[in-house]
Amino acid sequence: HRLLLVNGPNLNLMGTREPEIYGTETLDDIVALATAAAREQGFELRAVQSNHEGVLIDAIHAAREDCDAIVINPGAFTHTSIALRDALAGVSLPFAEVHLSNVHAREAFRHHSYLSDIASCVIVGAGVQGYEFAVQRMAALVER
Ligand code: DQA
Repeated sequence: HRLLLVNGPNLNLMGTREPEIYGTETLDDIVALATAAAREQGFELRAVQSNHEGVLIDAIHAAREDCDAIVINPGAFTHTSIALRDALAGVSLPFAEVHLSNVHAREAFRHHSYLSDIASCVIVGAGVQGYEFAVQRMAALVER
């Protein structure tokens, strides 16, 4: 079994980007954490990060070939991208939507997500631990 971990725009800056909001862990830390959580469930994990919407969409399409579920932090594309929503709906793999910060406690434009209503689960405000929860949840769902 394999999971795809997708991180969207600006998440490559993790560790130095607004640490009071996003914490001090780096993207490498997040990928290591998620990989370990997946391995504990007997899953492999492939990780992709891109600042480009089309690259993320291509990665989601490719997941249809060899992945059972997706964990995605779409960054700001959460609030803008119908194309990302259509890609996730199009491959019909179950996915978990993760946000490090509690988007509901922030600016109004972060309250709406184009993905949440078609997500299997949504985890917000749990920091990097949210990725662990999401991996555990998607593994349990696939195993069922
Ligand atoms: C984020 C929340 C988004 O609103 C923001 O644009 C991000 C990160 C989060 O993980 O909290 O880039 O997805």
